[in-house]
Amino acid sequence: MSQTILVTGGAGYIGSHAVLALQQAGYEVIVLDNLSYGHRELVEQVLKVKLIVGDTSDRALLDQLFATHNIAAVMHFAAYIAVGESVVEPAKYYRNNVIGTLTLLEAMLNASINKFIFSSTCALYGEPKIVPIPEDHPFNPISPYATSKLMVEQMLSDFDVAYNLKSVRFRYFNAAGADPNGLLGEDHSPETHLIPLVLLTALGKRDSVSIFGTDYSTKDGTCVRDYIHVADLAQAHVLGLDYLLKGGESQVFNLGNGNGFSVREVIETAKQVTGKEIKIVESDRRPGDPPILVGSSDKARKIIGWNPKYPDVNEIITHAWQWHQKRHQ
Ligand code: UFG
Repeated sequence: MSQTILVTGGAGYIGSHAVLALQQAGYEVIVLDNLSYGHRELVEQVLKVKLIVGDTSDRALLDQLFATHNIAAVMHFAAYIAVGESVVEPAKYYRNNVIGTLTLLEAMLNASINKFIFSSTCALYGEPKIVPIPEDHPFNPISPYATSKLMVEQMLSDFDVAYNLKSVRFRYFNAAGADPNGLLGEDHSPETHLIPLVLLTALGKRDSVSIFGTDYSTKDGTCVRDYIHVADLAQAHVLGLDYLLKGGESQVFNLGNGNGFSVREVIETAKQVTGKEIKIVESDRRPGDPPILVGSSDKARKIIGWNPKYPDVNEIITHAWQWHQKRHQ
């Protein structure tokens, strides 16, 4: 019989792609999502998975959920993710991302579930001293969002020692793209991420795209990021889960391609992919943005056998564009 995995935030962007990858790998999935940003129809109509609408900080709901379902492991995507917003509304981030996760972990332990896959972020490295960034790079989070993820990582280390909670923490670089078969895509509201904003501009849904900062000490003055295809991220989660279910020890892995693209390069690539003019407006820096984030994922390749299928930024933007065109037909 297949094992059942609880996916929190499964109605969101990365979570929904992970649900699809889990299904394709033969797992049963239950989604817990408070739908503050997620999409009900995605879970119920596209993925056709059981959706429990609720919050990770609702302990009574979690206790009931774990008592009535035989959950083998939890994949935790539910979190607030906007770096800029976290600088002006830190309490929102600490409450949801830290307290919500603590409540979830306590409920899991109470139900004797000790396998946990966590969405962490490369943002906790701050301004890197070594590029590509290895997992043992020192931490220097420069936004409350990043600090909230680091706090959970610390909890996970401590909980392993004290309670034998085994976790795989994935530090994502910049998730981008869409399901190559066009089933799922990126649909945040409000949208803050570069690639969807550029594509919405190409579609004529927005007038222009702002470049946040043109005076960084990077190749062309704009921020450099390591864009990683969301389907490759999802695949890493399945591999991490298989690893834990086979009795693997706790691990932390970077997930990126090891290539950096500037904001201007992303916009240029999007112009080529879409064949559209994209109007840009040069703006001030956005608070909380490190100039360069590019990662080394050698460890994930070695230990869980991860091998990204779509490392090409052109292909990442092409898949995102296909989905956006369909979504906004
Ligand atoms: N950017 C612009 N204009 C925009 C939007 C973004 O210039 O309209 C720039 C940003 O300043 C940044 C780059 O494009 O330099 C990428 O920005 P995103 O908002 O797309 O992504 P972030 O790098 O800020 O954040 C994402 C995830 C985080 C994660 C982080 C790690 O949202 O959860 O990647 O790099 F932590």
